[in-house]
Amino acid sequence: MASSLSIPFLSLLLLLHQPQFSTSNTHKLNNLKPNLLSQLSHLKTTENPPTQFFEVTKPIKLPNTKPCSHLVLTYDFAFTYGQPPVQANYHGPPPHCPPTHFSKIVLEWRATCRGTQFDRIFGVWLGGVELLRSCTAEPTSSGIVWSVEKDVTRYYSLLMKNQTQTFAVYLGNVVDSTYTGVYHVNLSLHYYPAEENNLNHHSWADLVLPISRNPPLNGGLWFEVKNSVDIQLKEFEIPRNAYRAVLEVYVSFHENDEFWYSNLPNDYIAENGISDTPGNGPFREVVVSLDGEVVGAVWPFTVIYTGGMNPLLWRPISGIGSFNLPSYNIEITPFLGKILDGKFHKFGFNVTNALKVWFVDANLHLWLDKHSLKTEGLLLKHISSPLVLSEASDFKGLNGKFLTTANRRVLSIGWVKSSFGNFITHSVQEFSYTNSLVMENEGNTQIVVQNIHINDTVYAKTPLLDVYSIKSEKNFPLFLYSDYFDQGNGRYVFITNLTLGFDENRCSKVAGSELLKSSLKNLQNGLGYLFIQNNYIVGALGSTQQVYNYEDGKYCYFRNISSSDYDIVYDEVKNGCIKSEHDFPSDFKLSNRVFSYSKGSSSI
Ligand SMILES: *[C@@H]1O[C@H](CO)[C@@H](O)[C@H](O)[C@H]1NC(C)=O
Ligand SMILES: *[C@@H]1O[C@H](CO)[C@@H](O)[C@H](O)[C@H]1NC(C)=O
Ligand SMILES: *[C@@H]1O[C@H](CO)[C@@H](O)[C@H](O)[C@H]1NC(C)=O
Ligand SMILES: *[C@@H]1O[C@H](CO)[C@@H](O)[C@H](O)[C@H]1NC(C)=O
Ligand SMILES: *[C@@H]1O[C@H](CO)[C@@H](O)[C@H](O)[C@H]1NC(C)=O
Ligand SMILES: *[C@@H]1O[C@H](CO)[C@@H](O)[C@H](O)[C@H]1NC(C)=O
Repeated sequence: MASSLSIPFLSLLLLLHQPQFSTSNTHKLNNLKPNLLSQLSHLKTTENPPTQFFEVTKPIKLPNTKPCSHLVLTYDFAFTYGQPPVQANYHGPPPHCPPTHFSKIVLEWRATCRGTQFDRIFGVWLGGVELLRSCTAEPTSSGIVWSVEKDVTRYYSLLMKNQTQTFAVYLGNVVDSTYTGVYHVNLSLHYYPAEENNLNHHSWADLVLPISRNPPLNGGLWFEVKNSVDIQLKEFEIPRNAYRAVLEVYVSFHENDEFWYSNLPNDYIAENGISDTPGNGPFREVVVSLDGEVVGAVWPFTVIYTGGMNPLLWRPISGIGSFNLPSYNIEITPFLGKILDGKFHKFGFNVTNALKVWFVDANLHLWLDKHSLKTEGLLLKHISSPLVLSEASDFKGLNGKFLTTANRRVLSIGWVKSSFGNFITHSVQEFSYTNSLVMENEGNTQIVVQNIHINDTVYAKTPLLDVYSIKSEKNFPLFLYSDYFDQGNGRYVFITNLTLGFDENRCSKVAGSELLKSSLKNLQNGLGYLFIQNNYIVGALGSTQQVYNYEDGKYCYFRNISSSDYDIVYDEVKNGCIKSEHDFPSDFKLSNRVFSYSKGSSSI
């Protein structure tokens, strides 16, 4: 459930004694979890413990240099729920690192756990700036291990600061006689010196400001958005010589909104007199405002945490984004003219239709003009049309169909004058959403088909020069079929069949460098069964297939993998671009775990 609350065991028993309980299936499954977990963690012991869990993703492209590493923090998370985050002092790269420029900095989270435990959401912050949002893997009685590696080079200025800052990790865990799992964690940084012949074109922000909670920090540095009218505000002040600003937003959803895309409309819930069911329909968005005006939005990817629906779906292959939740960028440069006055301003975060609870915070990346003390700016155009939301429902009793569609567009244009000249930045965010939700079999069958499309376009130019441009097209497909069968004699079967996708086509260009075009297609299909008899899980099955395909003209990564109840069924990896059959090296075979590095590199 990736939250820090333990659902009492009682709720399961109550639940299973009611033949006609009519919550959404995802919520039913969530209520079943406490029982499920302790049984699942004993269901299978592997011969070679600990089992390694992982999320399928492309490897981080590293320079060909020797990194220097630094163990930042080591901690055993046991009774940390509601406590302040675990903290450690940090003062830049350790003394044994060469005094040089690093072209890559990688954060590594490595953890082990044994026993029974929920999936817990956690966050890692440096100086209040969030570096990683993630979810723990659920342990087994024989023990598991997993690691998350994240490229954190975009926080370069923060990581290299010559002053003592605080690393903070919040992972709210509770241990008792049933939930015995303690998370043993090492957090490290690896600094890769730049290759001599490889001058890095990337210019990361000169300053990253935390847009996260002020102390006291019990429960984490994120803001908690608890309902649809809750707006969380953060005051901040920027240097007067900024010439570019990007707000990076982190988002995760829990408890009543963990499966927001399957939440039922309130009229259906009311007319059927169902109580224990999260409502407000299946549409959510995070709205970001600056001094009360909407400057952008986040339509989040539907991350399914490691215990979601049927935990066996995510062992050992974790759900897309679950070990490294995506963050979302909103270009703030057009609005700089409003905030370069040396005064305090406020970012606000609210979530349309929210139920308890959303964890939201952000980082403000700022680029500063080293050749002047003051820049100037002006917002030329800002169109933030209200959300267009349509909800159609057609139901009779517990059976029905619900169609929800939504659109939003935010456009902003502004200029900034700095020692580089006067440049105009255009930013457009376009969102569209459709969700079809069907309830059949007296509410025991639920089918969700959802699609989110997002286009983000940013370009900054002077009359003569394109300074930078980004065009990103994202598509998040989701299909969820869940069925609940009463087989009589206290026997039930839960079936989950799901498809989860994260696709992005991206084009970006920084002045002086080539256009970079990339495409990512990442798709998971999962099928799970839970067999319940007299309130006990008597059997469980889960299998997942995933195809991950990334290409950017210079680099390609492909993986086709499948797991079934902890075992890898097949795993094909291609690391490098292969243009056609004829390009295959002679010893290349399309068999399991054959890695191929082809010379093939084409430019666009
Ligand atoms: C953390 O690091 C210590 C010291 O290197 C090591 O003994 C321990 O096994 C590590 N734990 C994990 C979870 O990697
Ligand atoms: C860091 O700051 C200290 C004290 O201000 C200074 O003595 C030292 O030279 C600085 N180190 C670097 C690498 O700039
Ligand atoms: C969220 O905040 C924005 C900016 O203040 C406001 O326009 C919008 O109405 C709020 N949304 C809800 C649902 O309250
Ligand atoms: C995104 O752009 C593509 C064309 O590049 C267009 O077909 C699509 O409708 C756009 N999506 C949205 C949400 O505006
Ligand atoms: C899962 O759903 C897909 C899409 O509807 C369907 O083609 C497939 O047969 C389903 N699989 C099972 C085993 O129900
Ligand atoms: C992935 O591998 C399976 C099993 O070998 C195969 O049936 C499937 O076609 C492959 N998918 C892709 C996209 O290569």
